[in-house]
Amino acid sequence: MLSSKLVCFALVSLAFGQLYLVASEDTIAVCPTNFTQVADRCLLVDRSWKNFYESDRHCRSLNAGLLSISNPTEFNDINKWLPIIAPYQPEFWTSGNKLGGTADYYWQSTGDKALYLPWSAGQPNATTGDCLTLLANVTMTPEEAILSAHRLTVKPCTQWAPHICQAPLQIFKTQLCLNTTAFFEAKIPA
Ligand SMILES: *[C@@H]1O[C@H](CO)[C@@H](O)[C@H](O)[C@H]1NC(C)=O
Ligand SMILES: *[C@@H]1O[C@H](CO)[C@@H](O)[C@H](O)[C@H]1NC(C)=O
Ligand SMILES: *[C@@H]1O[C@H](CO)[C@@H](O)[C@H](O)[C@H]1NC(C)=O
Ligand SMILES: *[C@@H]1O[C@H](CO)[C@@H](O)[C@H](O)[C@H]1NC(C)=O
Repeated sequence: MLSSKLVCFALVSLAFGQLYLVASEDTIAVCPTNFTQVADRCLLVDRSWKNFYESDRHCRSLNAGLLSISNPTEFNDINKWLPIIAPYQPEFWTSGNKLGGTADYYWQSTGDKALYLPWSAGQPNATTGDCLTLLANVTMTPEEAILSAHRLTVKPCTQWAPHICQAPLQIFKTQLCLNTTAFFEAKIPA
């Protein structure tokens, strides 16, 4: 810390005519507007009812893609977050599908083959469609609706459901810079 300050002062005196001096530097990760950070990525729930293709288009219009799930940790994080962000919403489109008659399911947003598939009981039932939603069971009590954890279920791609978009975290370097009159903060793509 002390030595870096000394270096800064040395630079100031050496380059006196130079306007900007990096006085401190940090890396921050932020999500796009309206997205929430869930573990190491950014998610957004859209409650409007759309089919799989429209949902995919909506996510792409936000520079994002429909949800993919690659491991149990990610899956648990999503299931902890959903009851907070969308308490009574039982179903969401993911990017999972086997369109084109493939034997396997793929995550459309990453292009990856879906290796981790947390199915609901009785799934996958391929006779019911080609696209995958996250679906929860709803139990009605006199007071309220209770939702189980969401699990993957096959659905016809042209039917309607809300959806979840995902986007990567944006990493910025923040630098506290000094010009001759004031401090200001600059965001620089890392
Ligand atoms: C964020 O959400 C608000 C409210 O839904 C909307 O008006 C706004 O356009 C959204 N911003 C972006 C960048 O999508
Ligand atoms: C929904 O309930 C059925 C019957 O109890 C069960 O077999 C299935 O696993 C449940 N699905 C989820 C997503 O919990
Ligand atoms: C699969 O879905 C079809 C149509 O809904 C249904 O008739 C059939 O019983 C289901 N198969 C299984 C194994 O659940
Ligand atoms: C220094 O920063 C202040 C505040 O942002 C700004 O008004 C001024 O124009 C800057 N001076 C130079 C030389 O860039």
